[in-house]
Formats: sequence, C-alpha cells, structure tokens
Amino acid sequence: MEVVIVQDAKAGGELIAESIAGLLRRKRDALLGVATGSTPLPVYQALTAKVRAGEVDASGARIAQLDEYVGLPAGHPESYRSVVLREVVEPLGLTEDAFMGPDGAAEDVQAACEAYDRALAESGGVDLQLLGIGTDGHIGFNEPCSSLASRTRIKTLTRQTREDNARFFDSPDEVPHHVITQGIGTILEARHLVLLATGEGKAEAVAQTVEGPVAAVVPASALQLHPHATVVVDEAAASKLK
Ligand code: F6R
Repeated sequence: MEVVIVQDAKAGGELIAESIAGLLRRKRDALLGVATGSTPLPVYQALTAKVRAGEVDASGARIAQLDEYVGLPAGHPESYRSVVLREVVEPLGLTEDAFMGPDGAAEDVQAACEAYDRALAESGGVDLQLLGIGTDGHIGFNEPCSSLASRTRIKTLTRQTREDNARFFDSPDEVPHHVITQGIGTILEARHLVLLATGEGKAEAVAQTVEGPVAAVVPASALQLHPHATVVVDEAAASKLK
C-alpha cells in the first residue's frame, strides 16, 4: 500500500485527477469506479477542468457506481445515480450510456446485486476505483464487520453513517436505512484502488486502515491485501499516523 500525504483536499483532488488522466491517456475506454459523498468532489472538479482545458480526452471513459441507496424515489436528487450523473458523467461530457450502477429501486434487490456484479465482470472490470472512507472505516457501504470477501449486496447503514449523511437531506429521517454496495471482495477486484481521505474526522479511520491489522471491523483495512492500493490523505487525515 502506498500512502501519499498532501497539503489539503484540493491537492489530493489534483493528484488523483492527474492519475485518472494518465489512465485515460493509456486506455481511452477505462472503466472508472466512482464514490459519492463530499470527499471525491475535488477529484471530479480537477478532472473536469483537465478535460475542458483539452489536457485529456475523457470521451471514451466509462463510469461505474460504487453503491446506491435502496428505496429512494426514481430521480431523487440524492440517489447516488443522480449524484454521479450530476457530478461526474455530465461534467465530463459523457452520457448515461457510459454509466453503470446497481438498481436501488429493483423489486428483487438480490437479483439486482448479482446482475451488477455480473455487469462489472462482463465490462472487463474496474480499472481504477476511487474510494472515500467513513468515520467508522467503511468503504462503499461495507460497514464494520462486513465480510472481506463480500460481493455486491444489500446492507443496513449504521446510525453513525446515517447521521454522517443526514447533511444531504432535508431531515435526518429521510436518510434511507438500506443501501446496495459493492462488496469488499468486489472492490478488491479493481485493478487500482485509490482511497482519498480528508479532514481530522477521518484521522482515526485512516490510522486503523494503514497501520492496524487487516480486520473486518475496519473494512478499509482490506486495502492492505490489494497489490495496487494508493491512499491519499491530507495533513489533517494523516495526523494520527505514526
Ligand atoms: C459513498 C461511499 C462512502 C463514502 C464515505 C465518506 O459512495 O462509498 O463510503 O465514501 O461515507 O463520505 P464523505 O466523503 O462524504 O465523508
């Protein structure tokens, strides 16, 4: 695992955007796995700026979603499909054809999860998966004690994660209780994992991820098992590293 400490979130976004740009220059139809939440926004902004400046051609890129709320009405602005279309797909000048994600409105959720794992494999697999990290060490929505071999499936959000995500909704009660998330086993199949963590609130989770044992109680520690994992942290998120 490679750990890169940068000054702030903007620098982290710039660094990762350059890595994605490099990938797209080598492989124009690369499959990019994207996370939602606040942390990756500087990456999407920096990548969009590079595309608009003509530094990289993203027109062949394909985008795969990491997770999705279950039970939000179609088109809800905070469904992760809506967020990824708004923050990534549209700014990069792509269309929905370039996008894939799990169906959080499916009647048969289990079948939707299996279909998504199949679709990821049939598309050739994720080239670069961008990850955030929860304050409890989750990646995707694999909450503590998720199996490190898990596949895409439905999960229940912890109270902590629902509280963390309440800022995106009008009221905390609106935060869904369930999500579909790529499993840790699914995530580990991506060719390159890039985790970005910023802010002091992530410092403990980062320390456990990087310096603690590989353990299901800290799902992000599974990155230690991956042959090509990069952890980009700002100084605040790095503050508890030894
Ligand atoms: C969202 C996701 C989550 C977030 C994590 C951190 O797609 O996969 O694991 O990355 O909850 O969220 P922020 O970045 O909002 O602190």
